[in-house]
Amino acid sequence: FVMMGWLIATRSARGAEETDDRPKDVVAAAVVDAGRVLLAQRAHPVELAGKWELPGGRVESGETHAAALVREIREELGAEVEAGDAVGKPVTLPNGLVLHAYRARLRAGTPAALEHLDLQWFTADDLRRLDLDDVVPADRDWIPELCIILDDA
Ligand code: CDP
Repeated sequence: FVMMGWLIATRSARGAEETDDRPKDVVAAAVVDAGRVLLAQRAHPVELAGKWELPGGRVESGETHAAALVREIREELGAEVEAGDAVGKPVTLPNGLVLHAYRARLRAGTPAALEHLDLQWFTADDLRRLDLDDVVPADRDWIPELCIILDDA
């Protein structure tokens, strides 16, 4: 009973501190269709606004990466995708979040910028011409791998 009291006290104290117990993983989708990849232009925060990224977001507790990817694309683009193979290596952000990119195939719907400023389909040549300053820092390392994927598509 003493042990149980300690457990309850510890848990409520942690809750009061607003600790973030969510997984550190973020998933991002490389939706590839007809030899092009879909990039989304961030609306916020200010330092990232206007920069291109692979759309996605944080994995929730108990969620697989594939399920998180499907949910995030449904929320952000209003489209249904199927998650595929990993793209490149995971990227660790300064805040400790770890970003994982996966290929994704469109199953239904037409992607729309529900939470982004804009969406654009990029060919490998478009990506090679893209100024990396216009890409979200964490996503920059994935561009060469995306070019290879598109060249093979
Ligand atoms: O909305 P949610 O918190 O699920 O996700 P988010 O705010 O879109 O992304 C979580 C974190 O991952 C933020 O720090 C984003 O800047 C970062 N992120 C990124 O660097 N590159 C992406 N392709 C997607 C997210």
